[in-house]
Formats: sequence, C-alpha cells, structure tokens
Amino acid sequence: MKTRILKVAVLLPFWISGLLATAQTPVYPDEKEPLEQRVEDALSRMTLKEKINIIHAQSKFSAPGVPRLGIPELWCTDGPMGVRPEVLWDEWEQAEWTNDSCTAFPALSCLAATWNPDMALLYGKSIGEEARFRNKNVLLGPGINIYRTPLCGRNFEYMGEDPYLTSNMAVPYIQGVQSNGVAVCVKHFALNNNEINRHTSNPIVDDRTLYEIYLPGFKAAATEGKAWSFMGGYNLFRGEHASYNPILMNQILKGEWQWDGAVISDWGAVHNTRMAVTGGLDMEFGSWTDGLTEGASNAYDNYWLANPYLKGIQDGIYTEKELNDKVRRVLRLTFRTAMNSKKPWGSMVSDEHKVACRKIGEEGVVLLQNNTGILPIDLSKVRRIAVIGENAIKMMTVGGGSSSLKAKYEITPLDGLKKRIGNQAEIIYARGYVGDTAGEFNGVKTGQNLQDNRSAEELKAEAIRVAKNADVVLFIGGLNKSEHQDCEGTDRETMELPYNQNELIMELFKANENLFVVNISGTGVAMPWKDQVHSILQAWYLGSETGNTLASVLLGDVNPSGKLPYTYYSSLDQCGAHKLGEYPGHKGIDALGNEVFDIPYNEGIFVGYRFIDKNRLKPTFPFGHGLSYTTFEYGKAEADRKIMEKNEKLVITVPVTNTGSRAGAEVIQLYIRDLKSSLPRPVKELKGFCKVVLQPNETKQVSFTITAEELAYFDDAKHQWVAEPGKFEALVAASSADIRTKVSFELK
Ligand code: BGC
Repeated sequence: MKTRILKVAVLLPFWISGLLATAQTPVYPDEKEPLEQRVEDALSRMTLKEKINIIHAQSKFSAPGVPRLGIPELWCTDGPMGVRPEVLWDEWEQAEWTNDSCTAFPALSCLAATWNPDMALLYGKSIGEEARFRNKNVLLGPGINIYRTPLCGRNFEYMGEDPYLTSNMAVPYIQGVQSNGVAVCVKHFALNNNEINRHTSNPIVDDRTLYEIYLPGFKAAATEGKAWSFMGGYNLFRGEHASYNPILMNQILKGEWQWDGAVISDWGAVHNTRMAVTGGLDMEFGSWTDGLTEGASNAYDNYWLANPYLKGIQDGIYTEKELNDKVRRVLRLTFRTAMNSKKPWGSMVSDEHKVACRKIGEEGVVLLQNNTGILPIDLSKVRRIAVIGENAIKMMTVGGGSSSLKAKYEITPLDGLKKRIGNQAEIIYARGYVGDTAGEFNGVKTGQNLQDNRSAEELKAEAIRVAKNADVVLFIGGLNKSEHQDCEGTDRETMELPYNQNELIMELFKANENLFVVNISGTGVAMPWKDQVHSILQAWYLGSETGNTLASVLLGDVNPSGKLPYTYYSSLDQCGAHKLGEYPGHKGIDALGNEVFDIPYNEGIFVGYRFIDKNRLKPTFPFGHGLSYTTFEYGKAEADRKIMEKNEKLVITVPVTNTGSRAGAEVIQLYIRDLKSSLPRPVKELKGFCKVVLQPNETKQVSFTITAEELAYFDDAKHQWVAEPGKFEALVAASSADIRTKVSFELK
C-alpha cells in the first residue's frame, strides 16, 4: 500500500508522535479504503511485541496503540451517565483537572422509564458529544443487565427487567453515542445481576432463560446497534469468568451473532492467561499491578495478556492465530474511533445538553399514584409547602461507584422548587433524618456540608412541627449512592427504605394528611405507607437538572409520562429470584477448582412481571405502570388479518384518545399471549410499545407490527427460536396489569 498523508490537520498530532517515536514514516491508510483492508495492512506491519502491547492497558483507562505506525492510544472512560473525570495514570484518585466537569445525565433506569427510543437517541448523542470533546474513544456503557432482584446495587445503571424494552432503548443510545466516532462498550456481558460476590458469582441458568431473558438486549446491541465494543462481566457463567467465557464470547457473541467488535474485560476481571487467550477476550484492563511491579520497567507488562502471553507464544504454547484475531478487533475499534478523521468535534455542558438532560428526566419521572389529584401543586390554593427529607438537599451525582461524576452543576430538589415557586408560596424545609453525609467519591467532592448533630428524635420532631403548619407536605426521600443502596460493589440488604424513613412518613401522615412522597432511587423499594399518602412520584437520579426537572413535574409545567421499567414488588417474596431462585447463592467450585457462589436461577424465564402474572400476585406497582395528569381512553384494537402465515406481518391498530383537559403523552404497550404452547410460556410478554403525545380530545391511531419473531420462544433442545402455529392474543395495555383491549389471531 502506498503511504498517503491525508487530512493532515486531523492526523498531525498522531503523525508527529509517530515520527518522534521512530525515524520510520508513519502509515495513514486512506479512509476510503475498506476498513478490513486497512486492518489487514496495519496488522501486517506490526511486530509481535506491538501486537501484544495493543491488547492491554497502559494506564487505568488507556491502551498504547502503535506509536511507530502512528496508531494512536485508545482512551476509555466511564459511563454510562456522564463522562467520568480524569484520574491519575494508575490510580482511581483524581488528576485534579479543572476542565473535566460534565453534564450529569439522568440514570439509565430513568431513561428506560421514558419508554421513548427518541430520548435514548438524544441521550446517546449528547453523552457521546461530551466523550468526544474530552477526546475519549470508548464510553464504558450502556449497562443493560436485566433487573433480576430489587436488591442489586447497580439497578440504577441498567434499563429494567424486560428484554424487549432494554433492547429497544439500548439500540438508539448506542447509535447516538457512536455517531460521534466514540464507541460504546456495552456492559456487563452477561448475567452480572448482583453486586454481592460479584467476582465469584456463578449463575446457573438454562439456555432458554439465557436466550429469552438475559441475552436479547446484548444481541440487539451487537446486531442492530452495531456496538463497537462489549465489556465482559466480573461474574462467572458455567464455571468460567464471563470476560473470557468461550460460550458467551466465542460461541454466541462472535459466532452466532457474527459480531466484529472488541471485547474489553471489566476492570480487574482477568485472572488467567490461557483462558483470556482462548476464551474470546480481546483487551485486558484494570488488572492489579500491585505486587507485580518489582523490577519491571512497566507494571502493565505483567498483565495476563502481556508478557505471560508473549512468552507463551515464544515458547510455542499459543500460536499467533488468536492474537491476530484480537489485534484485528482492536484495530477495527481504533479505526472506528481514535483514527476516525470524520468524527465531529463534540461539546461539553452545552445548552443543548442541559435541555437534553432535563427533557429525558421530565419524560422519565413516573407518577405512581395520585389518588385525590393533589398533584400538580396548584399555587393558587397553596400558601405554605413543607419540604421534608434528606434527598431534597443532597447532591446525588457523586457516589455509587464507577458511574460517579464530577458534574459542572447539580440543582437539588429544594433549590429547583424554590427557584420555580419564587414568592408564590412559602417553602419550609426540615430534614427529618440524617442518612449519608459523605458527599465524596475517589476525591470528587460535592462541596456540601451535610453534617447535622441533632438527634433522630429532634429531627423528627422538627419535621412533624413543620408538616403540621403547612398546606401540603412533600417528602423527598428514598435511597442514595452510598454502600448497600444504589451503589456498585454492594447490594442492598433489604427492600426497606433506610434511616427509618417508613416510620417518619407514617408520622408525617398523622401530622398532615396532605402528604405526597417523591422517592429518589434507581430500584424498587417497599412502600408500606402507600395507602396513606395521596401521591407518589418515582424520581430516579436525574443528574444536573434534578431540581428543575422535579419542579416542572410537581408544578405541572410538564405532564408526567414515564412508566416503570420494572415491577415494584411489595416484598421480596413476589420476586421469582427470591421466591424460587437463589440469591446470593451457595458455595461451589469453578472450572479451576476455586470457590465460587453458585446461583441457581430457578425462576427461569419468570422474571419480573412474568413471575407476577404466573402467580397472580398484586405488586405495589406493576411493570409498565405510570399515570398522567390527564386521562387516556383506548378504543378497540383491530388486526388487519385473522390468520397470519409465518413469513407475513400482522398489523394491530388501536385508537387512543386524550380524554382529559391537558396535553399529555401515553405509552401504549403491546403484550403477546400464546394460548397454547408445547413449552410453558409466560402469561404475556412485551413485544411492542409506542409513546404518543395527545392534545385534549385528540385521538391517534397507534399501530404495532407483529412478525413470527415476536411470537417465538427459544427451544433449548433444538437450540433455535420457534414460532409455534396456533392461537395468540395481542393485548393492548396501559401497564402489565391494565389491559385495555385485545385481539386474537392465529399463526399458520
Ligand atoms: C465496573 C465497570 C466500569 C469499570 C471502570 C468496574 O469496576 O464494573 O462498569 O466501567 O470499573 O471504571
């Protein structure tokens, strides 16, 4: 190939560093040449040592590239809800940059609650722009593990319990990010469903459950989203670690799905050279260098995929076959990102990003209950508002693990309310309890001083006094990002709200019946006070615009339209993982004889509403539930045919009308029920959804297209998806427990 120097301005820095590294002329393959040709060309020029170098980290978040050939470094960053601040070369501590503050976007659980793929695209595009501006090549997200238990510490980073919803929200997020020339790294593939014992959890899952519940989001990310990289989980699967699990990586991801991207290990998830070589891992990150550094000029040379691999090849234990495959994948990733000269420039904390953050939040907040229509707050009728609870004043973008952020700004709920209400009403605040006062993660500080030395009794007494003297009481509590709450590395210990909030809420109700609760969390909590309070709002972690977002929903500037992406169980007994399956498992042995935690997923495919339906349970709030300040009426669903051939499409249409007096948006959900099947099937499964905006009295026709794919189950014995002929029902619903109209049809 001829050496060509193209797009000099963009490539100049790489070119110069390449020139400085050696006297050789660097190679810049013409981007007009097909990617694979460029990859092969680069591969053919690399030495064995250069190939080894490119497949493992050189710092906490970067890999070295090939300076001699002008192939630049590859920089990763967390993800998935904002771009992580710079850390030191080999430490988690801050590098203390002054220009790395980001827009904190709402948590992915909130994004899922919008049930709006356009919001996912906007989210991906916006966060991708921030990553691009910071010159990052790989954004470590989205997190799309299925919500198996409400106790999982990272549910807030994921997209809920349903594979169809997750798939349809993940794909546009990925496309949005990657339109910036920044790769996503879809995580954590697969079955990383709890944080407790996360390095030694060994889920025991049958193929059907794997393919129907835990894989579809990842499959959609790989095949439709065309994600450029994936991250393996810390956990094991069938006795082998996920990051280099031959079934997950070689057989399924790279085999069945024909995916050409690069698998990146989770940070510190590699424990063995042989398996990392053969099990489908392409890049090793985050392995500890402590204790390995003695006498080494570069501690990273001691990574499992560094010198031990090099030596293995030199000693004839491994051939270069696997190595070349890994290098090709890393080169592809590099050409698509770091060496993509057509990528836009990106932007950081732009006005557009603030708007995106707020809009996603406003669409994601879920009005769970509004018994007496007390919401939205009518300022013409309310003179004094009591705001109670620590989460009203606590900044939440710091904490929770690797998704912790250094936000350029974060508006607390109390500040947002004060700004919105101004002098139209009096706001009196009382904290009510003291929970987490830390406000720091890896050296990033919120700057808030939340110390309060008063006793629990004093705090409660003050809250009750304030509540008694107000027209309405707004309790803003829930979880936070400290350990054993919504936090990586630990799971919650119970579903109860911490810091005696349940008791406080009951006391507040006795003091003033005009009580409503804003629950800030990324996972379901028990709500024993549900019937006492008028209104309940599920508010997630809403990022930089938290206070403004909440104020616009509470005051009715925005009509809530979020729906739950997971079931709100009233107790753990309603959750299949706890009732039938095991959590967090029992001691077992992995492929190498190490002690692990075997977790039989005995509940199988009956996760979330699938378990609720099967056992006819009544959760606190069902999957897909969410109210509006207006009301919607569903007309009769019609199918365009009664009988469908396997290769045909069937279209279901339903008219939906806004019957209230405000504009609003409704998420219309389509569930499919298989009336007779050879294998047991869930009572119904989500197979379509559509969010429509309707003006008062307006009617829109909403259509869903069904193909055989939506009717199929995974047959383990045949190892294939099977759409069995017979009768089906299409259920059109406002939530998984609120079916409004249905239509039957038959698959031939
Ligand atoms: C987390 C990943 C994260 C990585 C890098 C790990 O501990 O599990 O989700 O991307 O650290 O910070």
